[in-house]
Amino acid sequence: MTPEALIETKDLGFSYGDRSILKGIDITMSRGKVIAIMGGSGSGKTTLLRLIGGAIRPSSGYVKFAGKIVHEQKRDELFQMRRKMSMLFQFGALFTDLSVFDNVAFQMREHTDLPESMIRDLVLMKLQAVGLRGAHDLMPAELSGGMARRVALARSIALDPVLIMYDEPFTGLDPISLTVIGNLIRRLTDALGMTSIVVTHDVQESLKIVDYVYFIADGVIAAHGTPDEVRGSVAPFVHQFVHGEEDGPVSFHYPAQAYARDLKLEGSFA
Ligand SMILES: Nc1ncnc2c1ncn2[C@@H]1O[C@H](COP(=O)(O)OP(=O)(O)O)[C@@H](O)[C@H]1O
Ligand SMILES: [Mg+2]
Repeated sequence: MTPEALIETKDLGFSYGDRSILKGIDITMSRGKVIAIMGGSGSGKTTLLRLIGGAIRPSSGYVKFAGKIVHEQKRDELFQMRRKMSMLFQFGALFTDLSVFDNVAFQMREHTDLPESMIRDLVLMKLQAVGLRGAHDLMPAELSGGMARRVALARSIALDPVLIMYDEPFTGLDPISLTVIGNLIRRLTDALGMTSIVVTHDVQESLKIVDYVYFIADGVIAAHGTPDEVRGSVAPFVHQFVHGEEDGPVSFHYPAQAYARDLKLEGSFA
């Protein structure tokens, strides 16, 4: 039995003005999986997450979430849909003037009518899930970078989302914290029966924890496969990415006008 797809994109395109960023993305994400989206800086990874979350409208194609086309939802339907998704953009900063406890409780207090005694139990459960129940009284300034991210994780699961999207969860972490966060993403996904999308350029770390990888390049899915398939791939693009080589099909240069023109070595000298 194939589990029903949680997310499906079809011919998904997006442009900023006349600059086309995504040019026809076809992706299927099954429930219960951890999926990585990889690609160079500026390849459109964050844009893809924003399309999935309905923050921006596609210029072609669609995103389906649990069988419904995201951009066709009415305002309150979209609101309901978004409550099932949690997005950690650049690993959402904590409210610095609120304790760890209050950071995690914030959305529960905003979005539910639960009594404070129940919120307390739920917050401690979420903190327990990330190993920080004992830290509930601390202020964000007292946390290490890795701990702050775990609190952000606890906060992101506060309303029991079915989908969590992590944008660059590993950026700026030391190697140990990075492994802790990676393993936590995997364990939480499994334990809570969620689906996770991890946008990252950290290939080695994500290959350890994900079920499937999509590579974006030039606005399309350039390659995709399981971690084993990715590691064993001889496709030049994948090889370059996995082995962090500077030269290969992924160009180092952002599209630019002729260098000579930028340096004013050509054109009018009048
Ligand atoms: N609000 C915007 N207006 C115009 N261009 C944008 C905007 N946001 C992002 N871009 C451009 O879209 C491209 C894709 O951006 P993004 O999805 O953030 O890439 P990634 O997350 O893969 O680094 C980049 O070239 C970026 O400069
Ligand atoms: Mg990005």
